[in-house]
Amino acid sequence: MDNKLKLHLDKVADRLLYGVMAHSQMMQYYDFLSLPHYADSHAKHYHEESETYHKYMRMLIGEYNYIYRTEPSAIIPNMIPAGWNKVNTFAINDEDRKKAVVEGLGEWLRWEENTHETFKEAFEYAYAHGEIFTAEMIRGMLESVSDEIRNIKHYISKRSAIVDVEMVEEDKYIEPMTEDAKDKGESV
Ligand SMILES: [Fe+2]
Repeated sequence: MDNKLKLHLDKVADRLLYGVMAHSQMMQYYDFLSLPHYADSHAKHYHEESETYHKYMRMLIGEYNYIYRTEPSAIIPNMIPAGWNKVNTFAINDEDRKKAVVEGLGEWLRWEENTHETFKEAFEYAYAHGEIFTAEMIRGMLESVSDEIRNIKHYISKRSAIVDVEMVEEDKYIEPMTEDAKDKGESV
């Protein structure tokens, strides 16, 4: 494999691994905000993209006899805002929550647009240099990222943030559980 192709493929590997990490962080972000709808959406991406990551890494070994060793780099995701580890989730009010949802969607969109760029460059290089199997695999990944970007934009345009804040209101009426009842899965 030529050096330039290797550089592109390494970048894709980084992006896939850090993408999985980013979704895990976003899942925690929304769990912390008590927004289960968003948290579940990131959990889904976490699992799906984890599988894509494994398939891709196995492709590098199968196609190129190459094992990529991830190096620490500046692109490690940092989705959880500074200071959140200093506050309790109960201290967050609905205004904070709405603002955090808008900011979270913006971060998510930025992340996926950068991922799209990295994948697109790798796809174009691989395709132009006759690496058709690799190019096709990356093309599939590009389509998934495009779908994801479309969904994020849908969330933003439909203001699902507001709907989710209403869900939080409903959550307030769920009765607390005692330690005993938790074990038995009953509410009190
Ligand atoms: Fe993603």
